[in-house]
Formats: sequence, structure tokens, C-alpha cells
Amino acid sequence: MKFKQFAGKFVEFYRNFWKAITILLLLTLLGQALNLIAPYIYGKILDALVAGKSAKDIMLVAVLSLGVYTLQTMVVDRYFYWYNINKLRIDAHQYISEKTLDKVMTFSVGQDINQNSGVKQDVITRGEHSVATITNTLLYEVFPVVIQVILFSAALFFINLKLGFVVLAGMIAHLAANIYINCKFKEEAGQIEEKEIDNNKIRSEILRNIETVKLNSQEERVISEYREDSFTVNNLSKKLWSKYTLYSSCRDMIIGLTKFAVIATGAVCYSNGSCSAGDLLIFFSWSSSALGKMTSIGTIQRILMTAYASVKNYFVMMDVEPDVRIVSNPVKPGKYLGQIEFKNVSFVYPKRNYIEEKNKKETKLFEGRHEALSNANFIIRAGQKAAFVGHSGSGKSTIIKLLMRAYDPTAGQILIDGHDLRLLDLRDFRNSVGIVEQQILLFDNTLRYNITFPLNGKSELVSDEMLDKVSRLSRVSEFYHRLENGFDTIIGERGVKLSGGQCKRVGIARALIKDPSILILDEATSDLDAQNDAIIQQAMKEVAKERTTIIIAHRLSTIKDADKIFVVNGGKIVGEGKHAELMKSCFEYQNLVHSQVHVF
Ligand SMILES: Nc1ncnc2c1ncn2[C@@H]1O[C@H](COP(=O)(O)OP(=O)(O)OP(=O)(O)O)[C@@H](O)[C@H]1O
Ligand SMILES: [Mg+2]
Repeated sequence: MKFKQFAGKFVEFYRNFWKAITILLLLTLLGQALNLIAPYIYGKILDALVAGKSAKDIMLVAVLSLGVYTLQTMVVDRYFYWYNINKLRIDAHQYISEKTLDKVMTFSVGQDINQNSGVKQDVITRGEHSVATITNTLLYEVFPVVIQVILFSAALFFINLKLGFVVLAGMIAHLAANIYINCKFKEEAGQIEEKEIDNNKIRSEILRNIETVKLNSQEERVISEYREDSFTVNNLSKKLWSKYTLYSSCRDMIIGLTKFAVIATGAVCYSNGSCSAGDLLIFFSWSSSALGKMTSIGTIQRILMTAYASVKNYFVMMDVEPDVRIVSNPVKPGKYLGQIEFKNVSFVYPKRNYIEEKNKKETKLFEGRHEALSNANFIIRAGQKAAFVGHSGSGKSTIIKLLMRAYDPTAGQILIDGHDLRLLDLRDFRNSVGIVEQQILLFDNTLRYNITFPLNGKSELVSDEMLDKVSRLSRVSEFYHRLENGFDTIIGERGVKLSGGQCKRVGIARALIKDPSILILDEATSDLDAQNDAIIQQAMKEVAKERTTIIIAHRLSTIKDADKIFVVNGGKIVGEGKHAELMKSCFEYQNLVHSQVHVF
């Protein structure tokens, strides 16, 4: 992302706050104008003293300077400026947090699955923090410095033209040096930022998988891997900052030289009578204020340079297009009947993580990848119970992901009740589907919250009878009363307070509470003991009567009675029919059955 684009995005970002920013700019201008007055008064007092004016006259001017000081510090700086700046900071923080969430929600489920969550979290946290840093630096430092430098330079010309030119030349040289240093180190700072993100990814992976690390006694290994990586990043950072400091010191010498030139030229002007002692006092205080501010540009620049790299990554993320597009006038067919048709559907998983790869300008998204699903054709009629069977990695869950529009197919079409899935209102469609995924993801909240999650936050509207019915069907009824607070027990992060089988049952209850038109069970009962599996299978038969049901199960006894069984092998549908038919006609199915004959 070029700097111009970056600046454009920043301005665009703050467009909503233009009123607050204008007020702050005006207050800065007023504050800096008042800053000019005190040295001016001191100069005039000095000239009056030299001219032999009375102490009474001078006291009056001194009281005036006190008034100006009070107005500037108490009213303009402290009250109006600080209050407005903090108000803007708080509002902008809320705005940016919401904007990030809005954006993240537009990504397809597939983009979320493929993106490392640690990297995403890091880019968001650093980005949001750095947007705030840039804003604060602009408002607290850059605006006042720029306004002060412009105002003071103009005033200096008003006092003495020759001296004004000396200061202006010094300032221009300093600014040019700043631009040069910025260009020289910008790229290096960006690369270090990338490396820091990678380094943080290692750390967040360790923290996320800490249990696996400990249970495999790999504590020392992961720490040393992390240390090795941080060592490289830290060395690069130290090298950058040592070079940067050297360049900055040279740059700040320009200010020292300018101050020397001002004193020398001032002395010449005073001795040849082209300015008074008071003028010199005014000049020295204004120019040292303005030149002093110029040195702080170095610090400001360092802050901005670091923040720039983080915000750039954040803006890159905010620019990523969702790969599942929602049409502007989506179809909402009311209640879904639940007919599903795949027409020549093929699919290749995209290879990129959206944040890292966007930076690398990856274009050949699918090159070199083989199809996870190849020319799939099938129809599941409304109300049917269908099953997908096949070896691990054959493509069963991929079919479900495509059906849920986690991704769009690379070729072909998916039709729901005759409507192209791409034209449907996605939220409305997903509301009509209850899905129990292979890996159940639960919130660190109550059991009730987790089960009623699909109901738009209206858990209080769920009657106890409804909750009882759903928990009976999913066999949650078997264990919830043993939890410390029943349905109101907090079940821990990812449901750690529950067993694997209990988590699955919560997942089943969560799918059923929606009373969906299509129910999808992807290895829903695989973690259950045979007795509970059998009870849930029985319950599912009751549930399946009212809707289309899709079951994926390795345990073939679970799907024996399905209306249609699809056999998936290497991303292809190689068989379709009832159990008895497939036993006669499908070699792959026979193999699957024979390999499980002891349980069948
Ligand atoms: N996000 C992904 N990115 C790239 N490839 C993927 C992704 N998810 C799955 N795959 C690949 O797609 C193929 C099909 O995977 P899928 O999850 O559909 O298998 P499955 O039939 O459900 O297997 P299982 O029975 O083990 O659950 C596999 O080769 C897998 O490695
Ligand atoms: Mg699977």
C-alpha cells in the first residue's frame, strides 16, 4: 500500500469526525496565537525599560501578560483542547472497534477457517492501537507543531526579514532531512513489523496449544524456538534503531546550526541598529520555541513510522474483499422445503490466508492445488434422509461447507428449492439450517446461552418445555442436572468443563432449537458411547420426519436406513442409492461395509 493510498484511507476513516477535528484545529490555532503574545509583551517591556518608562506603565503590561497566560493555559489548552481531544479519542475508539467487527463479519466462513486467528488478532490489536497512536500524535503533537512553526515563521518575518530567512532556511533543511530519513527507513520498519507479526504468531500458537505442549513435554523446545525467532527480530530492530538514531542526531544538528546562525545574525543586526534589544528578545524566544518544536518532529516521526507499519497491515485487512459475495436483492423464499441439488460442482480450496497473502500480492490462488470436490451431481429431495460416507479426507465435510456457503464452488451450481444458493439471502438460509459440525465450537458462557445461541439473543423467549424437548432429543437431559447450576452453568472456554460427547450433545441441541428445515449432522454422534449413540439415532429418526436430514458418519450402522446414501471417494461421488442397492452395485461401499463388519 502506497503512502498516498494510506493517507487517503486515514482521511476517509476520520471523515465522520470532521467537525470535532475542525474545532481542535481552531483551538490549536488560537492557543498558538496566544503563545506568540507573551514573548512579544516581554520584548516590548524590555524596550520600554531601555527607553526609561515608569514602573507603573510596565506593571500594567505585566498584568496583561498574566491575563493572556491564564486564558491560554486554563481555558484554551486545558479545558477546551483537552476535553475535545479526549472526546474524539473515545468516540474514535468505539467507531474503529465497530468498524473492525463489521468488516470481519463480511468475510466468508472459508476465509475465517483459512486465516490464522493469532495473526488476525495481532493485526487487529496492533492496527487499532496504532490508529489511536497516530491520531493522538497528530492531534497532540503534529498539528500544534505545524501550526506553531507556520505562525511563528510568519511572525519572525514581521520582526526582521533577514533573521526570518535564516530560521526558514534552517527549518526547510530540517524538514528535508526528515523526509529523507523517513523514506530511507520506512521499508525496513515495515519488514520488521511483518517479522514481529510472525513472531507473535509463534507465541499465540504456543499459548493456544499449551495443553498439547505440556502433555508432550515440549516446553523447552517451544520456548527456545520462540526465543530464537525473537532474537532475530530483536536484532533487526536494534540495528534499525541504532542507524535511525545516528541519522536523527545528524538531522538535529541542523537545529543547533540554525540557532547559532540566528544569534550571529541577530548580533550583527543589533550592532548596525536594524533592530532593538526588545525585538531581539522577541525574536530569540519565538525562534527557539519554533526550532525547539522542530526537534520534537524526530520523536513524532519515530512514533508515526512504527505505527504506520501496523496501521498499513490493518488497512490491508480492512481492504480484503469477502470471497463470498452477497447479491443486492437476495431471494427470501419464506419457509424452505429443503430440496438440495448439486449440479456439476467442483471445488479447490484457496491456498491463501487473506491477511498475509494480500500483502504478498498473491494472484494465483488455486495454482497447483487439486480438487477437493470434482464434478459432483446429486439431488436430495425435501424431507429425505441422506447420508454421505467415504474414507477420511474424501470430501464429505467439503460438501457441507459448500452447502453452507462457507466457500463458493469453483465450478457448477448449488440449488436450494430450485434457487441458486448464490442468489439467496444467506442469513435467512443459514437460519433454516441446523448444523452439528465435526468440531463443535462453544462459547465460554452458560449451557443455556450455548444451546439457544441461534435464536438472535432471545434465549428468555425459549420456554422450559422447548428446552426440555430439545435436551431430551439431544440427550443433554442426561447430564445437565448434574452440573452445578443446571442450564445456567458456565461451561468454560470451548466447553472444557464438558466431556467430548457432552459437547457434541450441546451441538445437537443447538441445531435442533432452530427447528430447521435442513438438519446436518457431521459425525455428530462419533464421540458418544454405543448406548447414547443408539438413543440419539432413535431420536433423530423422530426429528428427521419433519425435515431434510443429511448425515455424515463413519459408523455405517448410523446411516443404514437412509433414503439415499452417497459414496464419496477422492472428491468424487462414486455411488448413490439405498444400502441394499449399493451393497450390490458399489465396490467402494462394499469395501467400507466389510471393513466395519464387526460393528455392522
Ligand atoms: N481449509 C482447507 N484448506 C485446504 N484444504 C482443505 C481444507 N479443508 C479440507 N481440506 C482438504 O480437502 C480434502 C477433503 O477434506 P474433508 O474435510 O472434506 O474430508 P472428510 O471426507 O470430511 O474427512 P473426515 O472423514 O476425516 O472428516 C482433504 O484432502 C483435506 O486435506
Ligand atoms: Mg469431515
